[in-house]
Amino acid sequence: MKKFSIVIAGGGSTFTPGIVLMLLNNLDRFPIRQIKFYDNLDSRQRQIADACEILIKENAPDIKFLATTDPKEAFTDVDFVMAHIRVGLYAMRELDEKIPLKYGVVGQETCGPGGIAYGMRSIGGVLELIDYMEKYSPDAWMLNYSNPAAIVAEATRKLRPNSKIINICDMPVGIEERMAKSIGLNSRKEMVVRYYGLNHFGWWTDIRDLEGNDLMPQIKQHVSQYGYSLKEEVEESQHTDASWMDTFSKAKDLYAVDPDTLPNTYLKYYYYPQEAVEHANPDYTRANEVMDGREKHVFGECAKIVEKGTSEGTALEIDEHASYIVDLARAIAYNTHERMLLIVENNGAVVNFDDTAMVEVPCIVGVNGPEPLVQGQIPRFQKGLMEQQVAVEKLVVEAWAEKSYQKLWQALTLSKTVPNAGVAKELLDALVEANKDFWPELK
Ligand code: NAD
Ligand code: G6P
Ligand code: MN
Repeated sequence: MKKFSIVIAGGGSTFTPGIVLMLLNNLDRFPIRQIKFYDNLDSRQRQIADACEILIKENAPDIKFLATTDPKEAFTDVDFVMAHIRVGLYAMRELDEKIPLKYGVVGQETCGPGGIAYGMRSIGGVLELIDYMEKYSPDAWMLNYSNPAAIVAEATRKLRPNSKIINICDMPVGIEERMAKSIGLNSRKEMVVRYYGLNHFGWWTDIRDLEGNDLMPQIKQHVSQYGYSLKEEVEESQHTDASWMDTFSKAKDLYAVDPDTLPNTYLKYYYYPQEAVEHANPDYTRANEVMDGREKHVFGECAKIVEKGTSEGTALEIDEHASYIVDLARAIAYNTHERMLLIVENNGAVVNFDDTAMVEVPCIVGVNGPEPLVQGQIPRFQKGLMEQQVAVEKLVVEAWAEKSYQKLWQALTLSKTVPNAGVAKELLDALVEANKDFWPELK
């Protein structure tokens, strides 16, 4: 059996140790000969890498390990690039969340003005990774989950149309896991779903068990009362903080708006933006929670491993929930034809929608990459929302490519989260100032 070589780009990510443990736990399904870390910030990556080197030595001593900030070293001789970078780090996420709140607007990592600002930073970073991959390992595939995935995906479609990059999000995976638990199934893998939308902006239309029995009525029954909250919480390392619990419970109010479908949790920022603003603490946002929580925990545990020289007794957990990344890599490597939700060019999958939009739909994945499954015509409500949102995302990418202040102002004005063009302009000027080290200079 061929053994694969992987580079994790964004080696210093808080998710890296969980993913390494997950990869080590799946070696029977996806054998690995080499794991490399790549980051552009050595001091951050070093802390994670020194601990992961010990984890790998103790669990799979045959795997070669290397952490580097040199693109040539990182991207040479790899089969897969697993990318999760955050251009601007949490310091900029904090501003993405806090600046809009000053104007009474949703402050969120991937939605509204924060997502637009983050998109303007991410595009260049992700394109650079693609270019390194194509230069040093032209046959490799990039599995990208760097956010904001919707804008990044549109940028890769427009600016690197022939590149082997697949954009994927873990939110549907997490929600489906909850749906399965809510009706007494063991795993989302016991369900087959139909779904359409944009990233962080979509709806389930059909959910069946493997025999084809309709599970929607039971799931809807649960969601109408509890949203995606569960009586017994699922074992999952990522979506566990109180703010996530609020989000899962809020899905009940999202569902009420269209009881024909089941909603992605991120729709709360578009259906109920004022409420999101009222519930936010403008001095302590999700970025602060993550810095005080996940970041401290992960870096603290890594420091302990390095100090003791062993991972014995570590509190770092396998990110089992991230095994969809292995499913995706296997689908390409072994032509498994796994059915997965991916962010792909529409090309008729959503029949009455822009062919060039990057949509999130079920795909069959094989050696040639994803083949989207047609989801048919969508109703006016969803179509209206998606037209507006996809125009925002496309305007951001055009603004980045053309360095256009005007288009970025239009993108902010069009976002459903922003009340009017005046607020959009004030916000834009504040975001330009805050992002001057990261955005192209706008004309
Ligand atoms: P983090 O800040 O802990 O890690 C990101 C790392 O990327 C940092 O070490 C940073 O130095 C590095 N980096 C930044 N710019 C880079 C560049 N140009 N080249 C190389 N490395 C660079 O962030 P995190 O919270 O662990 O999240 C990482 C990313 O994963 C974010 O984009 C986050 O939004 C994304 N994410 C996506 C999903 C999804 O559903 N798609 C799920 C979870 C996390
Ligand atoms: C979900 C989304 C990701 C997002 C993450 C934020 O998993 O799908 O796209 O990055 O939530 O989680 P955090 O814990 O960093 O707020
Ligand atoms: Mn996501």
